[in-house]
Amino acid sequence: MTKKITFLGIETSCDETAAAVIKENSRGTADILSNIVSSQISEHKKFGGVVPELAARAHLENIDYIVKKALEKSKINLSQIDGVAATAGPGLTVCLTIGLNIGKSIAAFSEKPFVGVNHLEGHALSPGLETPIDFPYLLLLISGGHTQYLIVKDVGKYEQLGTTIDDALGEAFDKTSKMLNLGYPGGPCVEKFSKLGNKNFFKLPEPIINKAGCNLSFAGLKTAVLRESKKINDNEKMKYNLAASFQNTINKILYKKTKIALEMFKKKVQVKEVKLIVAGGVAANKSIRDNLNNLSKEMNFKVIYPNTEFCGDNAAMIAWAGIKRFKKDLFDDLDISVKSRWPLDETAPFMKGPGLRLG
Ligand code: KG4
Ligand code: ZN
Repeated sequence: MTKKITFLGIETSCDETAAAVIKENSRGTADILSNIVSSQISEHKKFGGVVPELAARAHLENIDYIVKKALEKSKINLSQIDGVAATAGPGLTVCLTIGLNIGKSIAAFSEKPFVGVNHLEGHALSPGLETPIDFPYLLLLISGGHTQYLIVKDVGKYEQLGTTIDDALGEAFDKTSKMLNLGYPGGPCVEKFSKLGNKNFFKLPEPIINKAGCNLSFAGLKTAVLRESKKINDNEKMKYNLAASFQNTINKILYKKTKIALEMFKKKVQVKEVKLIVAGGVAANKSIRDNLNNLSKEMNFKVIYPNTEFCGDNAAMIAWAGIKRFKKDLFDDLDISVKSRWPLDETAPFMKGPGLRLG
């Protein structure tokens, strides 16, 4: 029987200070021995978004305690772990530095291997914490900073099929919530209030819906929400109608673009069973899940979501990516530094800015 690997994971790329201890199990998934997440919602609430300096200060204040708590809860001591993983990018440099340095220090003094994890790879592999999944699969990664369709061929092997050319989907949810004064963090608030409104009340744009393959765009939709929000004068019912119409428009965009991404995936990869994994903070959205479940029935593919506990930022997914890399001998030297920009597919064209040709 091969040894089951145990890892400590640390995550500080944005506004969650997180640490986790997980261990491989005989089902090919992970036993979560601890998964501690300290969210900074109250710090950033009054600003309606993440303030990098405040986030960094909060990470600094909390990280020792959170790591200690994760180890205590796991009932594992440092001599019993096989390695340490910490997020090395992408994200806010001031925030990443704190978790990465703590991770490297723990690895150094406990003389354990270290893995600097790509946060996006953490999300990409996260459903594997609970569900055994083999490669390849199509990934829809929807978070606060990224929105992408990728073929996940193996650990460390990604091919980007499409991406947002402007805002990330989580960002569009957060800005909509801010414009409608629905609360913070934005995504869950828009989801909650959209249930109270009429989803067909506003006709909102679906940018680049009939062009640019499975690339996406949300800036025009956001501008339309801003325009309509100014006309409704804080009227509660109309706010809910606008939130519902926004959610409905997102669903229509994702339905169409995911369909295109699946066709592209099937042309590139020969598999018996087509699988779509939806990961990242926005994957917690129930309406998006229902919508993609309908598409899976129409197109006959399997769709897998992480448990909502593992959709938003957490360190269990970082530890898991660490274990997966460790098993392929992909560890890092302790002089690894943060990478604020770190695409999963380094060969993919940069899709933002003027001069973009969408075909
Ligand atoms: O993956 P994540 O925790 O952090 C990043 O890596 O960015 O994603 C955070 C994003 C935020 O924009 C948040 O508003 C959004 O995920 N989000 C949601 C929901 N829960 C979190 N968006 C829509 N519906 C939700 N239920
Ligand atoms: Zn994330």
